[in-house]
Amino acid sequence: MNVTHYNQQIVFRSPKEDLLDDILSILKVQSILLVCDKVFDLIGTKETFDFSGISVSVFDDFSPNPQYGDILKGVKLFTDNKCDCIVAVGGGSTIDVAKCIKLFSTLNPDEHFSSKKYRNSSTPLIAVPTTAGTGSESTHFAVVYRDGVKHSVGYKSLLPDFAIIKPALLNTLPVYQKRCTVLDALCQAIESWWSVNSTEESRIYSRAAVDLIWKHIDRYCEGFSDVLENIAMGANCSGRAINITFTTAPHAMSYILTSRYGIPHGHAVALCLPAVWRFMCRNLNYTVDKRGESFVADIFSRIASALGAQSPIEAANMLERQFDRLGITCPPAICNLQDEVRLLSQSVNITRLSNSPVLLGQRSVETIYTEVLCSNSKYDD
Ligand SMILES: [Fe+2]
Repeated sequence: MNVTHYNQQIVFRSPKEDLLDDILSILKVQSILLVCDKVFDLIGTKETFDFSGISVSVFDDFSPNPQYGDILKGVKLFTDNKCDCIVAVGGGSTIDVAKCIKLFSTLNPDEHFSSKKYRNSSTPLIAVPTTAGTGSESTHFAVVYRDGVKHSVGYKSLLPDFAIIKPALLNTLPVYQKRCTVLDALCQAIESWWSVNSTEESRIYSRAAVDLIWKHIDRYCEGFSDVLENIAMGANCSGRAINITFTTAPHAMSYILTSRYGIPHGHAVALCLPAVWRFMCRNLNYTVDKRGESFVADIFSRIASALGAQSPIEAANMLERQFDRLGITCPPAICNLQDEVRLLSQSVNITRLSNSPVLLGQRSVETIYTEVLCSNSKYDD
């Protein structure tokens, strides 16, 4: 099945069909930069793809949270070997690395990426995700770290020209990584659905993602192969949704949980989302979405009903119980809760909360973090 998403072709393929060869031959590619994570070595790149007749430069020298210096090494390899195509095979970070290599290769040597003097690049970028998580294969933004600071880079040519979804690749993931990545996709879909930037189109993607992921998440996490296609499709829809809307408060509040406690991204977002949703339900009179309070209330009800709940509060509690069952536990016991909550709250970029439909400021964030860190306040209908 093929789908066109903006300037991108999304191709869903069974393990036996390999359209990558066809794409490379149509594009008359002679030399590719293959960006892959080290995990992919286990699968065996050459067993999965046939690159015969094409010169392949492999780049896997980057950390899970890709550093600016890593990207520059990739740009050098790309330029030195005169590559005419970039293929990314891996999780969200790997695809982000490939996107950044394509974008930063358009900068002059004396230009820093923060100058944003990006130019369009005609180099085709092909993304093959091996996780069902970020949906990065279908977004036009990427994350890069510099001096410990996370930067989001957005540019239209970052959207890969082709996304090849091969559900069988998801079987290669360890169980905990499966859980974290699929919860990232689920949370992204929910956040996109309630985002102030949501459109009719983005909400269709969000609904599809929530339906597919929620229905199949248990069997996926238990290792059943019959649901891989649905989960892969759901994660891709989640990516297409945030490509339009960006993420909201649970993502903004999760980053410090990852950097301070080392909690993986999807785990950290899932910890925040139920508490953020309950807070917004209790404060709907502070709606900031220009479409109004009743519009937001209706969106919350639609999300709840897609999750099989009678009300948004019930849905938030249900999500939290499901996350508990999947081992999405809180950070270790905190000695001085007040100080810790203050520290976490101060790290949140308040302007990044503005995609949320309900007003969230410093005090709101403190309340939500307290709820996240105190299991006693959970399920407080
Ligand atoms: Fe995410």
